[in-house]
Amino acid sequence: MQRNHPVDLFPYFLTLDDLDGPIDWERLFGNDHPVEIDIGCGRGMFLVNAGEKNPDRNYLGLEIDFRAARHGADRLQRRKLDNVKIIGCDATLALDKFIPHSSVEATHVYFPDPWWKKKHRRRRIFTDRLINQMVHVLKSECFVHSWTDVEEYFEVIFNLMSHDKRFITHPTPIEKIPEHELDYLTSFEMKKRKLGSTIYRGLWQLKPEVK
Ligand SMILES: C[S@@+](CC[C@H](N)C(=O)[O-])C[C@H]1O[C@@H](n2cnc3c(N)ncnc32)[C@H](O)[C@@H]1O
Repeated sequence: MQRNHPVDLFPYFLTLDDLDGPIDWERLFGNDHPVEIDIGCGRGMFLVNAGEKNPDRNYLGLEIDFRAARHGADRLQRRKLDNVKIIGCDATLALDKFIPHSSVEATHVYFPDPWWKKKHRRRRIFTDRLINQMVHVLKSECFVHSWTDVEEYFEVIFNLMSHDKRFITHPTPIEKIPEHELDYLTSFEMKKRKLGSTIYRGLWQLKPEVK
């Protein structure tokens, strides 16, 4: 049978128009489990894997490319993965207005767009502004994870994060040997590792005295 109408992906795919203010996590997920956010989740490979592996945690993806976001939500719907949702939105806007203060246990920023051209660099998402937004939404002693294959961008991220007195810098997370074809954290990691690229990985934790 051919589908000639868009699949209804609600409540796996949402937009900011579906929200009437800061998100009530219990209302969104139907439970009070810890929440983690994937900023720029692409087609949602991390969210699907993490959601399946950790049914007692909730995951929210923020993705500006609605096609990619809907593709991810379709995967969630097929698996009936109710502990994961994706919002099609500009993550910086969502973090400013819709993610409640001190309510999130981890933020993940994997393979943020590098914006190679110098004149486009200001479009990069991992900036002081994003760090302040993450500090605002994270709970005390919670985590920021960020990986990229772009060495120069990672240096920028690492310098920003490790000079920020609000965070402890943890040792580099171990690179896992994939056990099968799809055993990667994100689709970009899979793509880049299959090409033989080095992946730069960072993990930081909010200091207890910050909140
Ligand atoms: C290189 S891709 C990485 C996708 C995924 N994290 C992965 O590792 O496979 C970067 C993603 O960030 C998204 N993105 C860029 N700016 C964004 C923003 N302001 N808000 C939400 N998503 C954003 C892009 O649309 C793209 O899907």
